[in-house]
Amino acid sequence: MRGMTHPSQRRGLARNTSNYGDRDFALYLRRSFAKSMGYSEAMLDRPVVGIVDTGSAYNNCHRTVPELIEAVKRGVLGAGGLPMPFPTVSLSEPSLHPCSMHYRNLAALDTEAMLTAQPMDAVVLVGGCDKTVPAQLMAAVSADIPAIQLVTGPMLAAPFQGERLSACTDCRRYWALYRAGKVTEERINQIEGRLATTAGTCGVMGTASTMACLAEALGMMPGGTASIPAVHADRLRAAEEVGMLAMRLTEAPIRPSEVITAASVENALRVLLALGGSTNALIHLTAIAGRRGVAIDLHKLNALSDSTPVLVDLKPTGEGYMEDFHAAGGMPALLWELRDLLYHDVIDITGASLRHRLAEPAFVDRRYIRLRNDPVSPVGGLVALFGSLAPRGAILKRSAATPALFETEARAMVFDGLEDLAERIDDPALDVTAEDILVLKNAGPLTPAGMPEAGYLPIPSKLARAGVKDMVRMSDCRMSGTAFGTIVLHITPEAAAGGPLALVESGDRIRLSVGERSLDLLVAPEVLERRRAAWHAPAKPARGWDRIVADQVLQADEGCDLAVLRAGG
Ligand code: FES
Repeated sequence: MRGMTHPSQRRGLARNTSNYGDRDFALYLRRSFAKSMGYSEAMLDRPVVGIVDTGSAYNNCHRTVPELIEAVKRGVLGAGGLPMPFPTVSLSEPSLHPCSMHYRNLAALDTEAMLTAQPMDAVVLVGGCDKTVPAQLMAAVSADIPAIQLVTGPMLAAPFQGERLSACTDCRRYWALYRAGKVTEERINQIEGRLATTAGTCGVMGTASTMACLAEALGMMPGGTASIPAVHADRLRAAEEVGMLAMRLTEAPIRPSEVITAASVENALRVLLALGGSTNALIHLTAIAGRRGVAIDLHKLNALSDSTPVLVDLKPTGEGYMEDFHAAGGMPALLWELRDLLYHDVIDITGASLRHRLAEPAFVDRRYIRLRNDPVSPVGGLVALFGSLAPRGAILKRSAATPALFETEARAMVFDGLEDLAERIDDPALDVTAEDILVLKNAGPLTPAGMPEAGYLPIPSKLARAGVKDMVRMSDCRMSGTAFGTIVLHITPEAAAGGPLALVESGDRIRLSVGERSLDLLVAPEVLERRRAAWHAPAKPARGWDRIVADQVLQADEGCDLAVLRAGG
């Protein structure tokens, strides 16, 4: 009788049947209902490849998902499988309140549940916007079924009056000029329509692009596919190939636990540093690795950063756009350039070792992927800072910061939260100078704000109008991967967890030393003790997802995952 094999040996629709005490009946029911969708007997006997669909009308970066899914389906069908697209939470960066980060773990939880609950022999993860790829990889690692990441790909930059524009480094650059009174209202409105002119993810080395590259560096994506522009036909061909590859995985499974290892995570960290990649990617990589029980030590990050040059010359660190990176050779070219710094015995989802993938020299265009002896920067893009203000660490993207501000001791101008910031930052009476340090607290992962990308605090408008372009800014939240400036992020523990950041007051002195990797609050211990005695933890939300987050979310150095979802719970 059909399905009489042991449950662990079942495949296709026979996987994960409900247990009514008669599994064959459960399969009989499942097939009966599947037939209501018009599938033939032969089709229902095929191996099943799930295709996660994170698109929605809210998600601009996922506009091409329907055609990508059709291409994946072609690949699966052509190779003899049954493709089964299914929806999960869709996270669009600009559409979510309080911010997309607040919902990354919800998407990961949703995806993991559907990967384990539904019958499938392998899955194709179709993501793109900042939080979707991390959520899918976190889920795939926890579910540990054969999985391949496919991304929507970056948008193209648009020519505009002698320059090129793309989301979203140029959005921030022009908005800063507008705040400083150097761009008119008419022009900023005109530019609004030129920043994102094609489908796809942000066109610079922001978080989405960085995560796509890290997925390839980890081995969860076929080589060379991270940076194919969203609108290229190659993107659809890659999707078709991914469908065929997923079918190979149904016969010879390779699981995420074989691909994501301590060695591949370290390779991904090297790539992150060489890309001048997003600070957010560090949080996401920590969360992905944490699902596998692999910890990322921020002291180790510093050691890697000191021995990994920035080689990729893209905005916000450099000049180019993702289409330039792709034309310059993309990830295969970068991995080739970094080859002596990487572990070669890791495998990707095709089963190929990195040693095998690096057997032949890759094509490299030196304009955007530099030679090791001619780097964009001789050291990596990110550094971790530690000290009395950040006992468990904070992050600075030095490749996008102002070196003249790397050693700063100055007075703090403190904002108690996002409301306070919005109310006072442009107050002409604000007691602030260009030499001060702007401090934002109560915007970390435990707060209702959900750790938004508010770490790129605006320069107070009276200073912006006077020509100030950068100041030291620090907070317990994040910043967009497309942003730039001397900005200390992810201060851990955060203020809402009672970290020292909670005790900082305007007028205190803070010392930042990038050279010493330190961040210290220069206030006497007895003063801090008095302030701590008066500090109260914020009330938790009463119910719902917000309450689950408040009870479970971990700090930035642990990837802001929910405690219960990490390896071992
Ligand atoms: Fe989706 Fe930038 S808004 S990648």
